Amino acid sequence: MIADLNKNKGCIMLFEFTDEQKMIQKMVKEFTKNEIKPLDMEMDRNGFNDELWKKIKENGLLGIPLPEEYGGAGGNAVTGALALREISRGSASVAVTLDAHWLATDIVFHHGTREQKEKYLHKASEDSIFAFALTEPSAGSDAAGIQSSAEFDGTHWVLNGTKAWITNGGISDLYIILAKTDEKKSTKGISAFLVEAETPGFSVGKKEDKMGIRGSMTSELIMNNIKLTKESLLGKVGDGFKIAMMALDGARISISAIALGLSEAAREIAVDYAIQRTAFGRPIAQHQSVQNMIANMDIGIRNTELMMFDTARMKDLEKRHTKEAAMLKIYSSETTMQTCKDAIQILGGNGYSRDYHVERYLRDAKIFEIGEGTSEILRMLVGSMSLNK
Ligand code: CAA
Repeated sequence: MIADLNKNKGCIMLFEFTDEQKMIQKMVKEFTKNEIKPLDMEMDRNGFNDELWKKIKENGLLGIPLPEEYGGAGGNAVTGALALREISRGSASVAVTLDAHWLATDIVFHHGTREQKEKYLHKASEDSIFAFALTEPSAGSDAAGIQSSAEFDGTHWVLNGTKAWITNGGISDLYIILAKTDEKKSTKGISAFLVEAETPGFSVGKKEDKMGIRGSMTSELIMNNIKLTKESLLGKVGDGFKIAMMALDGARISISAIALGLSEAAREIAVDYAIQRTAFGRPIAQHQSVQNMIANMDIGIRNTELMMFDTARMKDLEKRHTKEAAMLKIYSSETTMQTCKDAIQILGGNGYSRDYHVERYLRDAKIFEIGEGTSEILRMLVGSMSLNK
């Protein structure tokens, strides 16, 4: 009975994926199986794997959602979600690194000038990793509370401040940094800047020793009187907050794709185990309490899948999807936490062992209830949008 559920896994009836999307999904699935998944446990112990990332670059994964004119695969938000879901089935760490890269490249694509796009997007498709730096030691959920500053001295922008918890900090070639350009204004006093890693005065601080997604790099960034040309401003002065919020709407779809892939990986281990392991003379899959957990996993996975592709489609049609992306991220992150927790429960003592992967998945899953908007902030956002209609 449980095996039958697998037959329809991944079947979405509302819309068809294009041939190109199916082809990219197939390629990413193969690459994940052969190159990424075998290294996930090793990355959990030893961190970011340079050799793997060389192969990721060589195989064109960096540019999946970027247009062909910039060397990308011509994908969109739906394609990106398909790819991240597959990658996350092999390693949430690798998927998170790509998510942060795509969050930053999406900003350059949507808000950059022709020159900025020409200068950076080819590199983003080929061999450069990008990062997005909003969070600070004392400003996480309250994004408008950042204190990093940028002052125009007549010829240059001068940036000072510290960023914290920056995914891809230390491995990126380009950082999109949000800084205050007008102390007196709140959200409208923030602007976005393109900062190359080699810029004098820019350095990488503490590397975080994290609970999960340990194969991704997360670091502090320090800006000490960095001088930037006028051409480093992204969008208009004062547009930074909106640029960041719009980008986070899209990134919350990506995070949900990663949460979905992780849920599916945990479910697969739990189902295989439940079919093989016997207790009281029959496979534990035939015990109602175990079936209930698997049924709940499937409900969560299917709902995430439907919400995710629908929200990605909204992004591709350029419809505002702030509320939908927030609801999706709350649901997908809470689903993956419960799924990974139940997978451990089904495996019992083995689930608690590092040998069976699901304990790592649970540690990986926790970040999705925190990063790119906590569940609490997102519930506040959904609640206020629901009541202010
Ligand atoms: N799209 C377009 N415009 C938006 C927007 C969106 N999604 N969200 C807000 N805006 C606009 C508003 O319309 C408003 O514009 P007007 O003044 O012209 O009306 C302006 O921006 C200010 O909006 P708010 O008044 O809603 O701003 P706020 O200060 O109350 O903040 C918040 C609201 C939702 C709590 C916001 O601070 C937030 O999202 N916080 C969470 C931050 C977050 O997700 N951080 C994660 C950082 S990245 C990361 O973790 C991962 C990584 O390394 C890659």
